[in-house]
Order: sequence, then C-alpha cells, then structure tokens
Amino acid sequence: MEPQTGEVSLLLVEDREISRYNRRYRQRSGPTNVLAFSLREGPFGEMNRGLWGDIVVSTETAAREAQEAGLSLNERLAALIAHGWLHLQGYDHERSPAEARIMELRTGEIVERMGREQRRNISMTKARLAVNVDHVATLRQARRGSEPDPVLAAGFAELAGAEGIIVHLREDRRHIQDRDLRLLRETVQTRLNLEMGAAEEIIRIALKVKPDFVTLVPEKRQELTTEGGLEIVKQQKNLARIISRFHKARIDVSLFIDAEPAQIQASRDVGADIVELHTGHYANARNEKEAVKRFERIREGAEQAAGLGLKVSAGHGLNYVNIKRFAGMEEIEEYSIGHSIMARAIYVGLDQAVREMIGLIGQL
Ligand code: PXP
Repeated sequence: MEPQTGEVSLLLVEDREISRYNRRYRQRSGPTNVLAFSLREGPFGEMNRGLWGDIVVSTETAAREAQEAGLSLNERLAALIAHGWLHLQGYDHERSPAEARIMELRTGEIVERMGREQRRNISMTKARLAVNVDHVATLRQARRGSEPDPVLAAGFAELAGAEGIIVHLREDRRHIQDRDLRLLRETVQTRLNLEMGAAEEIIRIALKVKPDFVTLVPEKRQELTTEGGLEIVKQQKNLARIISRFHKARIDVSLFIDAEPAQIQASRDVGADIVELHTGHYANARNEKEAVKRFERIREGAEQAAGLGLKVSAGHGLNYVNIKRFAGMEEIEEYSIGHSIMARAIYVGLDQAVREMIGLIGQL
C-alpha cells in the first residue's frame, strides 16, 4: 500500500488527556503514546476525501520513551506521528507480525524523509557571509598607525550586506588589538564572532566584551594563520569547562575543527553550539582529485554535524572560485571569509568585494 497525501490534525496532549481518549474509544486504561482516529471510516468516510483524521500524541509518554531509547524528543515525536499517520492509511500492527514489521519499516522511511524536509526548510534561508577583518588590521600594524581601521572596514562590510563580522584576537596581538574588539562590540550591527585560542587571558577578555559568539581555534605563535582544526577528542574535559563558562555568560561557542567524524562527535559531546569546518585543506588541494576527496570529507562532516543538531559553518582559504563547489550544501549556514575578500577589495573596493561574495553564496 503506497501512503498518499492528505490532511490530518495533530493534537499534542499530556498523559491525563490521552488516558481519557484511550478509555473512551479503546476501552483501555492508562496512557499510551499515540492514537489515530480516522475520518475515512464509517458511513461518511467517502465524503472526507483528502481529510484523513486526527493523530493524538502524548508528549509526556513520548519524552519518557525518548529518554529510554536515547533519542531526542523530536526524533521520538516524529516516529509517533509517522506511526499515527500509517494507522490512518489503513496499516495496523495488531493484525499480524508481518504487518507490524512493514509498519516499522515505513515509519523509519517517513522519519528519514521528515528529517530531510526539515533540513531543506532550514536551508531555504540562504547561507550568510561573515567577513573576517583581521587583514585590515594587519595592514595597519605594518606601520603601527591608525589606518586602515578594521572597525570602519567592518561597518562597510555590513553596509554591503555581510551578516557577521569576525576578528581573531591573538595572544601576540599581531593584528587585531583590544581597542578594535571593544569598538567592534559597540558598532557591529549584525553578529560579532570572536576567534580565539583557549588562553585564560583571552577567555577573560571575551567574557567581559561579550561577543555574540566565540570560535575556539588552535593558536600557535609561529604560524602565519590558523593551520589545523582544534583538537577536541583529546581535551574534552577542559573544553567542556570552557564552553560552560561561555554559556553561563550567554555566549554561544563555535569550534573550528577538521571535518573528522570523531572531532565532530566530540564537539557535540563537549556542548558546542556550532562547528566551523576547516576548509583550508580543501582550498590548498594541489589538484582536482585531491580537491574532490577533501571536499567530500567536508560534505560528510556537515551532514554528520547537522544530524547531531549542531549548527554548521565553514571557513579558511575560501575564495571566489573554490566557494562554488559548495553549491547544494544545505547544512552550512555561514561562511567565514577574510583573505580573498580583502585581496579583491584592493582592486575593486570593499563594498564590491563583499557584494560579489554574497552574490556567489546566494547562488549556492
Ligand atoms: N575561520 C577561521 C577559524 C580562521 O582562523 C580564518 C582565518 O583567520 C578564517 C575562517 C578566514 O580564513 P581566510 O582569511 O583564509 O578567508
């Protein structure tokens, strides 16, 4: 039997209420997880074309069952709604073990489809561009003067449509200075993302300045720019502690990681809100074959992270050419881009450079 489309009403109730329905319509005592009442049965069934009936779900029982099975409440609710929907379509697991098995399989398929639809709906909102203005500060620091000012650059980037501003306050203060961060906190109208190593001094500054969120990155003094992703698996306890300090201050935490399954799982385990997948290895690929392979890892990582309920962003080494491969990658909500935008801004101006990148992201 092929499930058809139609309209149902969904009632989310507590145990007390579902117990009443259970007693009244099924002569059974106590609560149950889901009940389905068809509008297609009985003498007027034919008149209700397109109207399938009511599904009643007890959220209390669903929550208990979710906990027992180690599922999220959403996952359990989706399965119960699918189960009720199949009943309305005429399936009945009480008729035979074979039908019970078919119903179970169908439920799995529907839940899977609901998850895909949900992810697609989320991605209907286009990904955002967040602009990293560190390189403006690098140019200023070349003369230790006041120009160009990353704070002004951030304002121009926002006027051009950027939906986030990123700065990395390094321990050696090679580009962004404390003053920049303070002023940006006052002036950024979108979202300020502070990239930082997990050093105590910087953590304290972040907790005081309160950016919208922080991105924890590995930081080595000798490197030209952030090289690899942050190691999460081996320092879970420490990171969990740091993340909870930020959460207490109502600051979300993103972890900049390589797209490796263990790092992604550990990011979720330590309580991160977002993972920023490191795209530098992909951007630095020496040939097409290598690029395809490295990109595939990012794609799989994004799917895994989104499946775990993490928000996903991506960044490092992205430019006006290699961003195009991200077309159709629905899980990525934000791209963090600095160098290529600033490099182009030298020729065409910051406003146009930002607009062009937003245009490309809009086509993904
Ligand atoms: N994301 C992170 C975590 C970074 O460290 C950087 C570089 O500062 C970027 C994104 C931006 O990289 P790029 O300047 O190569 O666009």
